[in-house]
Amino acid sequence: MVRKLYIETYGCQMNFSDSEIVASIMHENGYKITNDICKAHVIFINTCSIRDNAEQRVFKRLRQIQSLRKNNSGIIIGVLGCLAERAKTSLLEESKLGMRVDMVVGPDAYRDLPNLIKNVEGGQQAINVILSAEETYADVTPVRYASNGVSAFISIMRGCENHCSYCVVPSTRGKERSRNPGSIIEEANQLYEEGYRELTLLGQNVNSYNWKEPSDKGNINFPDLIGEIAHRLPQARIRFATSHPKDLSDRLIEVIASNPNICRAIHLPVQSGSNSVLKRMNRKYTAESYKQRLTAIRNMIPKCSVTTDIITGFCGETEKDHQQTLKLMEESMFDFAFMFKYSERPGTTGAKLVDDVPEEIKTKRLEEIIQLQQKLSHESNKSDIGKVFTVLVEGKSKRSKDKMMGRNSQNKVVVFKDKGFEPGSYVKVKIEKCTSATLLGEAL
Ligand code: 5AD
Ligand code: SF4
Repeated sequence: MVRKLYIETYGCQMNFSDSEIVASIMHENGYKITNDICKAHVIFINTCSIRDNAEQRVFKRLRQIQSLRKNNSGIIIGVLGCLAERAKTSLLEESKLGMRVDMVVGPDAYRDLPNLIKNVEGGQQAINVILSAEETYADVTPVRYASNGVSAFISIMRGCENHCSYCVVPSTRGKERSRNPGSIIEEANQLYEEGYRELTLLGQNVNSYNWKEPSDKGNINFPDLIGEIAHRLPQARIRFATSHPKDLSDRLIEVIASNPNICRAIHLPVQSGSNSVLKRMNRKYTAESYKQRLTAIRNMIPKCSVTTDIITGFCGETEKDHQQTLKLMEESMFDFAFMFKYSERPGTTGAKLVDDVPEEIKTKRLEEIIQLQQKLSHESNKSDIGKVFTVLVEGKSKRSKDKMMGRNSQNKVVVFKDKGFEPGSYVKVKIEKCTSATLLGEAL
């Protein structure tokens, strides 16, 4: 009988990409992926630790799935990813946790999964949370079990050493390391051959990508790499995530500008508009230097969308700091933003500061920035009415059966009437209407 594996993924794109690596390693060891958790012999929850509520969601889900043990006492439940790395052996303490977790596996230990499963089958709990300075899974071909056949992630680097004071990632994902560019290009080519048309290069900070050729034959940095992929695959769209503002270089902006198939969309998390908050966050840039990067982008890449992340209520944030964030948002006219309340993470340098903004003030400030961003997103979308975009078709629209959806280069979702377009094809769409989240138009 084929053993079945069910994977549930939380968190960032990197985690979704890692789940495809996990699927590949398990597939090589005889497992088949199932979408039905009730049919699984092994269940992996690939977890996120970025905020306390992300962790609470995982615990809630783990509690829920314990009931599956009633009908199938041999079921194996494993916690993977960032929470596994952060909480380590405490996840194996059945009496404290009030439930049983069979395996705990950190993001650099996925090659060990088949071994760990054997240990569990032998009646033990199993753990591997060793972080690696080298692991990039370069030779593992991801199994894209949840793919739409059009868009794919390619992981190009792992880890992060920026040490933003609020962030748990350096401790859950370890040292920064770049993947061999040959294997990245090979994966991109292969995906294109298989029909994929939107390739997103992933890393916690892609701008730090830097591959040193053996025996001092020079190095390949992120602008080199993305330029090379864009050049080799002119019919594919290339995206990347995520960039740190402190090292978004002019050279990268130039490479984007000179390659029309590198998408006109940059995600550039600002986090705050206040210099004193940015300093406490250890972001290593100021509101002014951030705005200078935006000016460079907008001067060199016309029609480029810029999206951002914002944390509200970080330690010591005053009403004045908050107003500076609102001001920076207005000035920057972000096309979209992900916005969060600060959540203290154990073990970070931020946790040594006093988390002194009261919960109700965090909530109020978050509501204010969400409201402002909704207005800005709507304005950005309204300014697209009447324009014609080349849209990469992804599939049927979820909301209405006779419509299709895709994205323009700016990464905005475009919905239009289905005239029998194939996923993976490019269609010109004239925008007629919009909401703050979606563009609606007619295919030409
Ligand atoms: N609390 C709230 N938001 C956080 N982020 C990262 N760490 C925290 C935290 N401790 C946000 C940042 C980051 C995004 C991925 O999550 O905005 O860019
Ligand atoms: Fe969550 Fe960050 Fe880990 Fe991604 S890297 S899963 S966002 S904690």
